[in-house]
Amino acid sequence: MLILIVVLIETGFFIPFGSRHIKTSNTLNIIIVGASGDLTQRKIMPAIYDLYKDKLLPDDFHIVGFSRTQMTDDGFIKKLGAFKDYDQNFCSRIEYISGEYSNLDSYKKLGETILKHDGNRLIYLAIPPDILRDVTANISKAHIVTQCACEEDKTNSYCVKTGNWSRLIFEKPFGTDTDSAVDLNYYLQALFDEHQIYRIDHFLGKETVQNIMIFRFANSIFEPLWNNHYVDHIEINISEEVKIQSRGAYFDNAGIVRDVIQNHALQLLSLLTMEPPISFDADAIRDEKVKLLKSLALYDENTYKDHTIRGVYHGYLQETGVKQDSKTETFAAIRFFIQNWRWAGVPVYIRAGKALASKTTQAHIYFKELPHKLFKNIAPDRNLPNQIIFKFQPHEGIHLTCLSKIPGKNFELVPVEMDFNYQMNFNSRLPDAYERLLLDAINNDLSLFIRHDEIKEAWRFVDSFLKRWENNSQFPLYEYNPGQNGPEQMHTFIKRFGHLWNKEYCRLKI
Ligand code: BG6
Repeated sequence: MLILIVVLIETGFFIPFGSRHIKTSNTLNIIIVGASGDLTQRKIMPAIYDLYKDKLLPDDFHIVGFSRTQMTDDGFIKKLGAFKDYDQNFCSRIEYISGEYSNLDSYKKLGETILKHDGNRLIYLAIPPDILRDVTANISKAHIVTQCACEEDKTNSYCVKTGNWSRLIFEKPFGTDTDSAVDLNYYLQALFDEHQIYRIDHFLGKETVQNIMIFRFANSIFEPLWNNHYVDHIEINISEEVKIQSRGAYFDNAGIVRDVIQNHALQLLSLLTMEPPISFDADAIRDEKVKLLKSLALYDENTYKDHTIRGVYHGYLQETGVKQDSKTETFAAIRFFIQNWRWAGVPVYIRAGKALASKTTQAHIYFKELPHKLFKNIAPDRNLPNQIIFKFQPHEGIHLTCLSKIPGKNFELVPVEMDFNYQMNFNSRLPDAYERLLLDAINNDLSLFIRHDEIKEAWRFVDSFLKRWENNSQFPLYEYNPGQNGPEQMHTFIKRFGHLWNKEYCRLKI
């Protein structure tokens, strides 16, 4: 009997549940709401396909696309084909339903289509935030999400009656400030259980981002250095070459802080600086991230003026969808402190922008200078701080910079890097972030998804300077030319604090 249960669990037919075992289906329905959009074509569908190719989906899976555009199944498949080649077997699993987002009947039609296969339901909401409430209310009313039948199943999201689970993946933005995020959360929690809600931040699915925790907590040599005794300052940089592309209407209401700092940059920061979690469980990790976010020092009426800077690229006002009198920032740099035992006194810099010189996402941990510089006469210009650099993209890897002697009779020093490079070490394809996150949602693993309190704390921090920017029409918005690293003023901004942006440190090497 025991062997039979083990086999059934292994094959996914039985799920341990409390003191008994319930039957769960091996059929997976993936429902994409907002299926005609860019995200579905560029990210979601290719990720599902790669999971299928890697045999990570159950044999019996079905995909239903739902959105407003009138299309046949074939029309939908053809549209998807413009981005990636899908094989015949995969395409035969795809159906498409068109309907109005605000019309309950459309969801009933969707519900009937899903019922054909019964089984588990993963619902991906790839829709703009302004229709999120309507869509989720209708999803709930049309019973697209199977609700749990009793208290006991709260942690597994299985429906006791059928053994099937339903989970919803939410794309950002999750609110536009603290109040709206809290409000939205209450709204969703009235419709669904928290364990069914998967708030995605695709940065957390990136291989190198996941490796932060492994690097920090599976190696013994870094932890003793990971504090204000040894770390001088931290820089996180999310630069993009692209402008706002065709997303003017969205971006002009958001700006770079809401677009990437409130979520991606603060998520990177929390993984880099949080305390070790007590286990690798989703909530243990998220508890530590929340604690970290809670300890970020908020800006006040004085600090926001000196410790933040914003910019906009030349030509932004001419982009489609941008308001003529827009004050939206496409570049921002901020300096702040983490107010806790480990990090007190260590400044953190975050810099992000569009239309910059390159696409680079990196975090730099700068170590303190030596107490006594033995080599200052030999290499006066080479006193670069040691750094650990996390390269999230491109050229994913982790690097340690040190000073070394150049071989030869002279005593010359030069900075060198000790590299861990994904390509060289593993020589295999790095899975796309969406693949990993979809698989985790299917497997009921919430560790790489954001909990509601993380979102709230991140907004609380960002609001403390963003609201002040918005209420102060005199606060400068510096222009920069596309292809630069940001406005010129960013250099004086950081130099005042005795630091340089990473690019400038790199220049010192030459
Ligand atoms: C998205 C932002 O969340 O992240 C975009 O909305 C940004 O503006 C993108 O371009 C960056 O993601 P990645 O994975 O390309 O670095």
